[in-house]
Amino acid sequence: MNLQRVRPETKEDLLKSLYQGTICHLPATPLTRELIADVSAAISSTLGDDFRHAQFRLEPPEFFDRVGSLRKRFYTEARYHFWIGRLLDEFGFEIERIAFDPLRLRLVMHKGHDDPRAAPIYYAHRDTWYAHSQAEITWWIPLHDVEEDETFVFYPDWFDRPVSNNSEIFDYADWVSRGTSLRIGWQNRDHGLIAAYPGHTGPLEPGREITFAANAGDIVLFSGSHFHQTRKQATGRSRFSLDFRSVDLVDHAGNIGAPNVDNRSTGDAVVDYIRLS
Ligand SMILES: [Fe+2]
Repeated sequence: MNLQRVRPETKEDLLKSLYQGTICHLPATPLTRELIADVSAAISSTLGDDFRHAQFRLEPPEFFDRVGSLRKRFYTEARYHFWIGRLLDEFGFEIERIAFDPLRLRLVMHKGHDDPRAAPIYYAHRDTWYAHSQAEITWWIPLHDVEEDETFVFYPDWFDRPVSNNSEIFDYADWVSRGTSLRIGWQNRDHGLIAAYPGHTGPLEPGREITFAANAGDIVLFSGSHFHQTRKQATGRSRFSLDFRSVDLVDHAGNIGAPNVDNRSTGDAVVDYIRLS
């Protein structure tokens, strides 16, 4: 089984086991509870207190604009970069050898899969297909309790076996040349229709599937090489979560990380990662 509920003792052990495909689902800490309270307050002030139902109160363009302004804020403001610094510190990472792609707010809307603009959200993929490092670790944190059908599914049998994909369409330099709004997705509702998002191609043979429910503020840590897929949901409310990506710069420089079995994206997203040191 690849899912582990206990944090390895040292940061070195944690990274080693993540690079080998372990998924760590860890309970909320006082710090993650503080983080989600801070983020939820910002969301409430923009979408209203009952933000999980805001998609039903606002016209779609207005809803998209408000969510976009939040996404921009969490991704760009120093306040949220420092939150990540605190989290990394709590896990024993030395700030001088770490870089991160900042906080992204993710929404999976009730019946969001019916909107063709949102199609890329549901592609089975590896995060590394977006020119991330093989040493990239994804940190995923739900803002509220989530049921199994509101999260995502891992296909662990494909962690170290190639799947058919079109990651070669992704070139990092080309992607950023089209502006940060595409990279973070806060301006154009139609980007999902016109931009090239890499994903799995052909029929999916899932093999084993790891699904999970989680509590608000839990942390799910996994290698960016894991093959996974967001679940379509029709629970009558939106699902809100945060994630960010970190890279140990020494491992990245030394080509230490998860095996690369099929990632053909080009360029290096790490050049634009944030360094707090
Ligand atoms: Fe992903």
